[in-house]
Amino acid sequence: MSEDALSNVAHMFDALSDTYDGVGVDFFQPIASGLARAMQPASGERWLDIGCGRGAVMAAVVDLIGASGSVVGIDISPGMVNQARKDLDLYANVEVHIGDAQEPSTELGTFDAVSSSLVLFFLPDPPAALKAWQRRLKPGGRIGVTTFRGMDPRWARVDTVFEPFLPPAMRDARTTGQQGPFGSDAGMEALLRDSGYSNVRTIEESVDIRFANNTQWEAFTRSTGQRAMWQAIPEDQTADVRQEAWRILAEYAKPDGSIVFQQPIRHTLGDWTG
Ligand SMILES: C[S@@+](CC[C@H](N)C(=O)[O-])C[C@H]1O[C@@H](n2cnc3c(N)ncnc32)[C@H](O)[C@@H]1O
Repeated sequence: MSEDALSNVAHMFDALSDTYDGVGVDFFQPIASGLARAMQPASGERWLDIGCGRGAVMAAVVDLIGASGSVVGIDISPGMVNQARKDLDLYANVEVHIGDAQEPSTELGTFDAVSSSLVLFFLPDPPAALKAWQRRLKPGGRIGVTTFRGMDPRWARVDTVFEPFLPPAMRDARTTGQQGPFGSDAGMEALLRDSGYSNVRTIEESVDIRFANNTQWEAFTRSTGQRAMWQAIPEDQTADVRQEAWRILAEYAKPDGSIVFQQPIRHTLGDWTG
């Protein structure tokens, strides 16, 4: 990924930060809670969450590590950092900083655990980032990384409405988990193992994502990276695309209008012996 593409990611999330994870759809929090559960936070631990966004993982971890532990989050987007600071303001043992996941600052110190949910595929050089994260771990520390594990075919069918409008850069197979190391459990495990982690393993989960109705589905898509897909549609065709999406969504709607899709994800876990 070029420097331009990197700053595009930062700008995209900055622009989204006011509505990101804030339209009433439980998406990032249940995924992050699954990562926290899988990593088994212990009382008194020092924890680093990389690409923390609004703090979904930090919120899941902070009560489990207790007042004697601490959680630090870093994110490249100042807007996300501000939101996370507001959302987690009541915790004295939480800090959120602007920082680059590709090479987290040495000033952060070292940690018992490093987590990162739905971030690694955005980075210019994921293997180098995984090695840089080791330098933030104490010997005996552990890592947990969450990525997408394919897509509910019904949800993928709805997303086909955007396809005719997407430039190649927005068909990123890494983010969708369709290709390369991000395309399989084995690929992700190899990525961690080749970066020096041991005891590498996968926990697979599938999270039910509920949209109250098609309007909430659209609000959700506009509150995540998918907003860029809406923006790729010429204005005079937006209404037609919406109508087609709503026609497909109606096929999957329950009698009350709600739609439940599944989001398969994987948590790839490993240890750093030092
Ligand atoms: C899909 S969001 C996930 C946020 C959070 N982990 C969660 O689960 O809600 C991806 C996050 O990665 C951040 N990000 C992308 N590139 C980054 C980088 N190079 N350094 C730090 N954060 C980055 C974005 O700003 C965004 O907050």
